[in-house]
Amino acid sequence: MAFEKNSALFQSFVMQRPQMGQVLGVPLDQNICDAWNDIWNFRAHPEDVLLASYPKAGITWMQEVVDMIYQEGDTNKCLRAPTYDRHPFLEAVPPKPVPSGLQLAEEMEPPRVLKTHLPIQLIPPSFWKQNCKVIYVARNAKDSLVSYFHFQRMTKGLPDPGTWDDYFMAFLSGTLPWGSWFDHVNGWWKAKDKHRVLYVFYEDMKKDLRLEIQRVESFLDKDLPEEVLEKICQHTTFQAMKENPMANYTTMPTTVMDQSVSPFMRKGIVGDWKNHFLVAQNELFDWEYKRRMDGTGLDFCTQI
Ligand code: A3P
Repeated sequence: MAFEKNSALFQSFVMQRPQMGQVLGVPLDQNICDAWNDIWNFRAHPEDVLLASYPKAGITWMQEVVDMIYQEGDTNKCLRAPTYDRHPFLEAVPPKPVPSGLQLAEEMEPPRVLKTHLPIQLIPPSFWKQNCKVIYVARNAKDSLVSYFHFQRMTKGLPDPGTWDDYFMAFLSGTLPWGSWFDHVNGWWKAKDKHRVLYVFYEDMKKDLRLEIQRVESFLDKDLPEEVLEKICQHTTFQAMKENPMANYTTMPTTVMDQSVSPFMRKGIVGDWKNHFLVAQNELFDWEYKRRMDGTGLDFCTQI
């Protein structure tokens, strides 16, 4: 039984920001570290689809796209529950009595759509044994950093971000929750040559949503009529998702996510980093970026 989201208990739920620990050198919420054995031993089903990303790359957007594809454009079916209940967050270990990602997944019948922010080396091996499909969403580093900073300000589910300057350095040194953006996007980029991984860029979704939806559709072996495709495009625009309570996280108690600090659906654009990066920060970032990314074959766009 899922925890009743409208109950007084849920709404009065107070969350303390978590302590951090590590799994194989990757910084993770200590509650995830404590549950690591169970997470690592998760048993995937061959029909399960895993949606993966570094935090704030647009995974909620992809979740809505994938759900609309599975529900064949039936928006009412997609409004059945908030994103976090439709697609269990594999490694999530919220305080009791909120069910963990593993508990939610176990209550669901395959084919399940699951979400994770884990880097490639921490993905439970069962996903590879079962040859599951994975859709990885990648977003340029500068906008990911900005989005992540504002998200950590508004959610009690993660440590306090501190000042912008400190956060900027923490991102570059890979000490934020789920670790280094560089290792994450590169690890998954290599994995696509070994496993069934569809690598999708946030910026491509912004440029041509229809085309990216079609790529996802064909990866999932679906063939939807033109009018359904059109419906999916309309239902997954930034504005539509910002207004959709089942996608915009307003169903979370304000004691967990305070959208008056920063909305979950914040700006949804490419290039907001220009409003945050100081000139000296941009130079340092570009220098480190070149050092880490040259020769990887990965090419991100930071403005459209
Ligand atoms: P911003 O903070 O830059 O606005 P995630 O879902 O991985 O947590 O990522 C959240 C980011 O994706 C936020 O970025 C959010 O606004 C953006 N986003 C969510 N849905 C979107 C959509 N339909 N179109 C564009 N951006 C979207």
